[in-house]
Amino acid sequence: MVRSHIAERVRRIKPSPSTAAADRANNLRREGKSIVSLVVGEPDFDTPSHIRAAAMAAMEKGATRYTLMAGTVELRKAIAAKLARENRLQYGLNEIIVTSGAKSAIYNAFAVTLEPGDEVIIPAPYWVSYPDMVIAVEGKPVTIPCPEEAGFKLTPSQLAAAITRQTRWLLINSPSNPTGAAYTEAEYRALGEVLLAHPHVMVMLDDIYEHIRFDGKMTPHLLNAVPALRERVLVINGVSKTYAMTGWRIGYAAGPADIVEAMNTMLSQSSGNCCSISQAAAAEALNGDQSFVTESRAVYKQRRDAVLAWINAIPGLSCIPPTGAFYLYVNCGGLIGRTTPSSERLVDDGDVVMYLLDSVGVAVVAGAAYGLSPYFRLSTATSLDILEDGCRRIAKAVAALT
Ligand SMILES: Cc1ncc(COP(=O)(O)O)c(C=O)c1O
Repeated sequence: MVRSHIAERVRRIKPSPSTAAADRANNLRREGKSIVSLVVGEPDFDTPSHIRAAAMAAMEKGATRYTLMAGTVELRKAIAAKLARENRLQYGLNEIIVTSGAKSAIYNAFAVTLEPGDEVIIPAPYWVSYPDMVIAVEGKPVTIPCPEEAGFKLTPSQLAAAITRQTRWLLINSPSNPTGAAYTEAEYRALGEVLLAHPHVMVMLDDIYEHIRFDGKMTPHLLNAVPALRERVLVINGVSKTYAMTGWRIGYAAGPADIVEAMNTMLSQSSGNCCSISQAAAAEALNGDQSFVTESRAVYKQRRDAVLAWINAIPGLSCIPPTGAFYLYVNCGGLIGRTTPSSERLVDDGDVVMYLLDSVGVAVVAGAAYGLSPYFRLSTATSLDILEDGCRRIAKAVAALT
């Protein structure tokens, strides 16, 4: 038998379904079809000019060499100050590491902590990358369906039932991609009670959407609700979403010094430090003028409100208001079992998504990719005009079903 070039653990993971959906939409566009893509998960704004200026100044000043693996002292100080100012959390520089995006922080945290077969509890719907990252380092994702009726959130009894002796991590993303659901302080306290009874379970908090929320409140933090968890919590965040800096690739992890040190060793032997210029830009993002955060949040809210109304006016579709992030997780259960004009029955959310793409050129991502069906995720990180066009087309496609 010829041996595959590719290792077994890598053959088990799949490419990101949202990237695949975006590629499919782009291919159709290249063929000349009119496509409204509501797929991408990145802000459609330019990085604010004072941040770009900081990058240019860094280049001019010669900040073009290797930096410390954990990140420049300047950036780690900015992260520590941000965590203290915005989240009331105190971290020393030895407890913070800068990574190439939050994605790399999550992956490397798993890579340095999971033994083969160790379990990671992932509430579903989840960001598509989580289970595959766990699988890639030979861990076992344990996905727990969190239905719409529960606000797409994990309950304490679900958590208690999911914990085994093999559980290593609980992963929480609040506000969530794809649902926008966010835990309240009281919900965190209730989950915290379960966690305190199981000291072997660590918690990874993906806070990447903390600033994109629409109720005028600060996103509560598990560590403020349950400070006793501090030595078991790894905080993941970054500048990609808050400051429209997805291409700069700066994320970070803050948590127990031994995990941070192990990530440092791992990264120093693989990717090396993050881009020096991006680090200077990220420090400016965190230390500098924050008005972009407020302004962009207002735009996201306006879009969320508009799209929510348009979608909920379409018979067969419904969506509960997301607290944050820039997605709508649309329930398309009312379309399942219906028939398209070309006599095809829609059996699942994958069929619904293909029908929307083929019939009216709207690209969205099927709920199956996020672990909870029948839904599709629609991104509002695009202009109101495009969103309106997309919703009109969806309404037209739904009206043509029998
Ligand atoms: C929930 C969540 N976490 C992390 C990331 C990755 O962010 P970064 O660009 O910092 O790697 C994303 C990006 O889509 C995300 O949606």
